[in-house]
Amino acid sequence: MSFSQIGVVGLGIMGAGIVEVFARAGYQVVGVAESAPAVEAGKSNLSKSLSRAVAKGKLSQAESDEITARVSFGEPFELLANCDLVIEAAPEILPLKIEIFSKLDAAVKSSGILATNTSSLSVTDIANATSRPAQVIGMHFFNPAPVQKFVEVISTAHSDQQVVAQIVELGNSLGKHLAQISDQPGFIVNKLLLRYLNHAVQVLDAGQASKEQMDAAMRELSGYPMGPCELLDLIGIDTCVEILKTIHADTKLEIDEPAAGMVKLVAAGHKGRKSGAGFYDYSEKLDAPTDSNENVKSQVHNDLLIAYLGDCIAMEATGYASKADIDSGMKLGCGLPKGPFEVIESMGIENVRVAQAELAQRTGISAYQPLPL
Ligand code: CAA
Repeated sequence: MSFSQIGVVGLGIMGAGIVEVFARAGYQVVGVAESAPAVEAGKSNLSKSLSRAVAKGKLSQAESDEITARVSFGEPFELLANCDLVIEAAPEILPLKIEIFSKLDAAVKSSGILATNTSSLSVTDIANATSRPAQVIGMHFFNPAPVQKFVEVISTAHSDQQVVAQIVELGNSLGKHLAQISDQPGFIVNKLLLRYLNHAVQVLDAGQASKEQMDAAMRELSGYPMGPCELLDLIGIDTCVEILKTIHADTKLEIDEPAAGMVKLVAAGHKGRKSGAGFYDYSEKLDAPTDSNENVKSQVHNDLLIAYLGDCIAMEATGYASKADIDSGMKLGCGLPKGPFEVIESMGIENVRVAQAELAQRTGISAYQPLPL
């Protein structure tokens, strides 16, 4: 199958980013959103991103114009009728996604593949809302989609393996690195990342470190491009709460319950960058957070890192994902300088296990215990 026209439903930061990825790779793209203002916001997201690339000299104005010319926008789902693939990038609300997929099923030609960019919801539940579940798949991009090179391709028990292979080939044509996985809450990256982000807010809620201390610690001591509170603001705190609810419903672990600090911010409408404020206020340009309390930074860095490495070891041990896919996901999906297994290798697995046991003992949280050998 050749993909000539791609549809995207939902034109928020992720949807507009996905439109840009396909249009840059030479595909004709149709972007659809539920209202005229949402369509305008999508257009504006795309043009801002392209203007930034032009201003930085990464793209010529002529190239930017060509990319823009490949994209058409509108509201009605009928615009998607001839798409070979439609990717849904709506908010993380299962009933909403189910409604969208049943509309897509009616609007898109029968040979069309329908993909969801869900961050954690069941792709199987979404596929069940259509008359073509074998042609429904997860295609999970990372924010900002034009920058992050990783895409998770999620298949279900319904999936037609030919469809999976076609999506993998398509993903490769975008210059992305793909991992193929089965349908589990949070997939590879979000399962690990959201537990880490939630841990950070639990530390913040407990008054053990400030947001600046945590963010500076992860930037300075592990070389992360952003600290956890900055990243929560980038992803959207509301989205993170929804992902955590899905993961928590599966694991039932207290450490996966959305931390109170996040829930309160969302209730106040402080959803992160997209609403102008979250953990930080974005009314003016911010410098990277700094803090000079080296002891607190070292402790919080140790705790966040060790808990996360333990989760990576546990994920690999279940056979859900390989070390290579976990390392690629965290590096190419989140811009981390090293994959977790590279970090474990350099620390020595025995040292990691000792640190896990110490963390579990000090916090009284048994989920931090190392796996039995
Ligand atoms: N759209 C397009 N390009 C963008 C962009 C955007 N929104 N934001 C930044 N960029 C580009 C810039 O143009 C720049 O490109 P060049 O190198 O070609 O010049 C590059 O990214 C770096 O940008 P900046 O210099 O402005 O800023 P930075 O160096 O601080 O990087 C960042 C910004 C790329 C966001 C970086 O901080 C980063 O990688 N952060 C981590 C983000 C992350 O973890 N994402 C995954 C979240 S999880 C997720 O998305 C899944 C989910 O379901 C929740």
